[in-house]
Amino acid sequence: MRVIDFRSDTVTQPTPAMRRAMAEAEVGDDVYGEDPTVNRLEALAAEMLGFESALFMPSGTMTNQVALMLHLRRGQEVIAPRGAHIYEYEPGSLAVLAGGTIRLVEAPYGVPDPEAVRAAIHTSVHQAPTGLIALENTHNTAGGTVVPLEAQRAIQQVAQAAHLPIHLDGARLFNAAVALGVEAAELARGFTTVSICLSKGLGAPVGSLLLMPRALRAEAWRYRKLLGGGMRQAGVLAAAGLIALTEGPKHLARDHQMARALAEGLLRLHLGVDLRAVQTNMVYVEVPQAPSLAERLRALGVLVNAMGPRRLRFVTHRDLEDQDIPQALKRIEQALQLA
Ligand SMILES: Cc1ncc(COP(=O)(O)O)c(C=O)c1O
Repeated sequence: MRVIDFRSDTVTQPTPAMRRAMAEAEVGDDVYGEDPTVNRLEALAAEMLGFESALFMPSGTMTNQVALMLHLRRGQEVIAPRGAHIYEYEPGSLAVLAGGTIRLVEAPYGVPDPEAVRAAIHTSVHQAPTGLIALENTHNTAGGTVVPLEAQRAIQQVAQAAHLPIHLDGARLFNAAVALGVEAAELARGFTTVSICLSKGLGAPVGSLLLMPRALRAEAWRYRKLLGGGMRQAGVLAAAGLIALTEGPKHLARDHQMARALAEGLLRLHLGVDLRAVQTNMVYVEVPQAPSLAERLRALGVLVNAMGPRRLRFVTHRDLEDQDIPQALKRIEQALQLA
């Protein structure tokens, strides 16, 4: 039985071209800044996204955390959309590493109201002062939803007016760009720092990049080292990352179509799907007992994550085959009948 894995877009295997590039990569010691393949990847990412500088790191958690360390002083607060990855799934790192705290603003479909962001900014000495505003595009826990350009620009203006830096967790920035039909650089514009992941829908085995102004690079480099993220001959990873960055975005439209087809199929099975939230490669489903349904699905060869007691998450990615969607729907129907 073919196992159909919807747990995440991080489960993809490196392609044969990536494996070849990794085997043949020209490498050096990146802790001395001497890995030519890492240097090429960083230069390409910076150019593609319109930034002066980029720094390669092992994970999206690390790029986000380095950004938080760059922007926040101890005791300062970051304003972020409810459900933000930096709050929900980076296990207290904000407090441990940056010494910061967080204020969440409501964000229907991942999009905070710019006025609510403005109102959340603290300057009083009786409260934690705001040090940073953060957005997430696409917004994972809201459904892989896209932050539209107008909302983004309005929130950037709020940050600018308050003289605050603004960070984008763009782990899936290219999914947002494909969904909106704009260049990723357009969505990255106006942020002080942007974090992107190569190891999600773009298909690389490992790696993320932090985009930033040149003036922040030396400090970011020091924080990466502090966190143990200096990776020596990291060109073997960057070689796959270069392919992910150049070829990966071309596959995302298919991932989004598969998610849509899956969502429509799940609705036909009378499962609770909010189609409005299905904008990219994720489908969240409301069910009475998510962990036990996930278990029954596993037994039938369909892997999904239970995101809490009543929520399942399906994520589509390039390693799925076209027939996996109808096949998975059949198995889901079977699992529901077993309930
Ligand atoms: C929105 C978002 N940001 C950051 C990350 C962290 O990436 P990593 O797993 O590489 O640490 C993830 C991972 O799923 C994510 O979904």
